[in-house]
Parts: sequence; structure tokens; C-alpha cells
Amino acid sequence: MPLTDQACNQHIRPMTARVNAHGRWEIGGCDLGELARTYGTPLYVMDEDTIRNAAQAYLKAIKAHYPGPSEVLYASKALCNLAINRLVHEEGMGTEVVSGGELFTALKAGIPPERIHFQGNNKSPEELRLALEEGIGRFMVDNLDELVLLGSIAAELGVRPQVILRVTPGIEAHTHEYIRTGHIDTKFGLDLPQQLDEAMRYLRSHPHLQFRGLQGHIGSQIFDLDPYLANVDVLLDLSVHLERTHGVHVSEIDVGGGLGIAYVESDDPPSIEALVAAIAERMVSGCQERKLDLPKLLLEPGRSIVGTAGVTVYSVGTRKDIPGVRTFLSVDGGMPDNPRPITYGAQYVAEAVQVASVEEVVTLAGKCCESGDVLITDLGLPRLKAGDQIVVWDTGAYCYSMASNYNRLGRPAMVLVADGKADVIAERETLADLVSRDRLPPRLGGSR
Ligand code: LLP
Repeated sequence: MPLTDQACNQHIRPMTARVNAHGRWEIGGCDLGELARTYGTPLYVMDEDTIRNAAQAYLKAIKAHYPGPSEVLYASKALCNLAINRLVHEEGMGTEVVSGGELFTALKAGIPPERIHFQGNNKSPEELRLALEEGIGRFMVDNLDELVLLGSIAAELGVRPQVILRVTPGIEAHTHEYIRTGHIDTKFGLDLPQQLDEAMRYLRSHPHLQFRGLQGHIGSQIFDLDPYLANVDVLLDLSVHLERTHGVHVSEIDVGGGLGIAYVESDDPPSIEALVAAIAERMVSGCQERKLDLPKLLLEPGRSIVGTAGVTVYSVGTRKDIPGVRTFLSVDGGMPDNPRPITYGAQYVAEAVQVASVEEVVTLAGKCCESGDVLITDLGLPRLKAGDQIVVWDTGAYCYSMASNYNRLGRPAMVLVADGKADVIAERETLADLVSRDRLPPRLGGSR
């Protein structure tokens, strides 16, 4: 039976989502109402099949459309967790990390160091040292300061890291300004051509640095293919420039991540296959035109791997009716487990876990002491009472990984579901966890 009027877009939901014989939503063969009873709410639920499917879609498409070597890296910032890292690695993806914490997680998940690529605009000496000691695959160097630091630590350790230089391609992708990165006024990447030339001169003269290639990431939650094609053109033009000016060969081109997903019905992203085919074909024709050998092509998807695979199940708490204005329905989580609405004005679709027809329009609010803690404005729902469950779709990316403990709410548990089985892949934070790093100095009554 169709549910709400606004929530019938199938690609908003994980591929295994269906309404079961009890009239409740299930994912991966697991009833969301049962999961809520067993593991409590708020609860993140990740669908294993949807993740594997998305990873395979990238890997198959790149093999089908790109005759040169290639690698697809999971941008682990989207959802950084041991099990998720392991899962996408099992499917054949490498991992992209942006901090010592993400690097440590990838290593603990058993990702071979050479399949880990280290990104970021301000890597610390400690982070670089750890990455060098572990022998990770590539350093995506963002600026000259980092190049100098990396070179000096590498010399000290007697190693020769492989470097990809990140550039600012100067491309406007139409997405939220906070998650746009390819344009000129951004903290990321080397400006063209001066900073790139300077970095290249330094790199070539350094005995402990090896140049591999170029990277241009243009932003996130992107629906247009054109900025990707423009990015490929910029990177290939730079390959010619580097060869002519510095006599170096660009053997790897990394076009970043950024493919959007459909959070609401009006969102219309291209498919993974369409994105990869467009990039690959432009790479092939662009290389032919410029008489370049096909470099290794790297992609770094995050959101499009895990976004649609994840949902958050909440329990309804209080209701506040303001006649003629609106009804607030509050749930047991909010901005700490999903900061995207308050941060980016992100929109989501939600439904009652127990399927029933829409009876009212409510504003779904969180439980934080902050008026802006609203998850969804004007959501059609059946008339729900305290204790009923709601599922918010598409919370797999940038929710758990951006979660906070605001108002001292513990981070929710996360379960991975497949074939009727649920496994906890992140434990719920307990009250004890929340105070475990607080310290009472002796003058305030604490012990020495
Ligand atoms: N590569 C680089 C260099 C990146 O900076 C990012 C994302 C990715 C790959 C992966 O992009 P994706 O495929 O996930 O779009 N917190 C924001 C998104 C920030 C994205 C940061 N960089 C949000 O919740 O929308």
C-alpha cells in the first residue's frame, strides 16, 4: 500500500525496504519496529545489500567504461566505522581518509595500507608520521606547507611517499555553499597555475617525494554531470602543462567524489553508471585529443555509497498543537544524530514505521534545547502517539559521522542488516560513556 503522498519515490529508500505482513517497514528482512524494541531508539539502520550494490555499481561501471587502470576509493568521512570500512573493502574499494582517526579506523578494519589514500588541507605532523610509518598508498597533498612537512618527515624516516597534488579546478558545482569545493575561493587545493608550479618544482627537487598525479574534487551532493566533465578537462590540460613545463608524467587522475542522492522526490541525481560513464568517456576522448596515455583513474564516492543505505528510527514523544499555526511532534533524537537540517537546510522524507494513511501534517522536531532543532517541516503522517516509531530515510551519510553529544545525548547505536539478521556495528553511548572523559579536580572534590 502506498504510504504518504510525498514519500513514494523508491530511490529514496534502501533497495531492500518493503512493507511486511504486519504492515510495518522492514529493511534487510528486519522489521524496523522490532529493531527499535531490541536496540532502542534513535537507531541507525544500515542496509548491507544497498551498500554492496552501490560499491559494485561504481566498480562495474569503471571497468566497463574505462580501458585504463582504475581504483574506486570509499570516502570514509561519509560514514566512518570498522564494519562499513571492511564491507566496502570486501567489495573491492580502497579507502580515502582525512584524519588520523579515519586512518586508524581504516587500518583497524584491516584495509591494506597501500589501498588507503590520505586527504585533507591541514594534516598534522603526527598524522603524517603515522601515515608514513604505516606506508599508506597516496598522500593527496593540499598545499605547499604540507608538501614541505611531508618531505621532511619522509626524509627523517627514510621513506619515499607517493604524492597526488590536489588542485583548485575553479569550477562552480551547484550545491550548498558549505559543501562546494572546486571554486576559486576555497581553502582546498593548490591554485592554478602558480601554486601548482611551485609545488611541482619543490616536489621534483626532493629526493623523498614521488609525484604520481593530480586531484580535483568539485563538491558534494552534485546532480549535474557538466562540472565533472569540466573537471576532467582541467586535469587533463594540467597534465599537458606539467609534462611541457616540468617534464613530469601524470600517471594518476583523481576526480574526487560528490555524486548526489535523492533525499526528497524533487532530487534527481544521475545514476552511478551514468556518472562513471560520462567521466570515463571524457577521460578517454580527452586523452586522445591531447595525445596522453590513459592515466589511472581514481574516484572517491562517499554519500552515494552509504547515503540511501541508511535510515534513522526514532520514537515519538511529545506533541504541541498551535491551532492555526502548526503541530510539533518531537522525537527522541534530532540535531545531535542528524546535524544536516540545521547545518545545510537539508531536507528528508520520513514515514511512520507502522504503515497507515496520512491524517495530519506535522513538524518533526528533535529534543534539543534549540528552536532550530527541527528535522522535517510539514511532514504528512498518520496520527501517531508517544512510543510510536518514525523512520527518516537516507541518513546513511554524514549523520553518524557528524553526530555530536549536544545536550549530552549519547550517540545512537547502529545496526547492519542483511537477510533478516541485524548486527550492532556501533554501540549506543551510555550515560557512563558521556561522563567517562570528564575529570573533577581535587579542589572540586575529585580524588587525586
Ligand atoms: N573526496 C573529497 C576530497 C571530499 O572532500 C569529499 C567530501 C568526498 C571525496 C566525498 O564526497 P561525497 O561523494 O560524499 O559527496 N557534510 C556534508 C558533505 C561534506 C562533503 C565533504 N567532502 C553533508 O552532509 O552534505
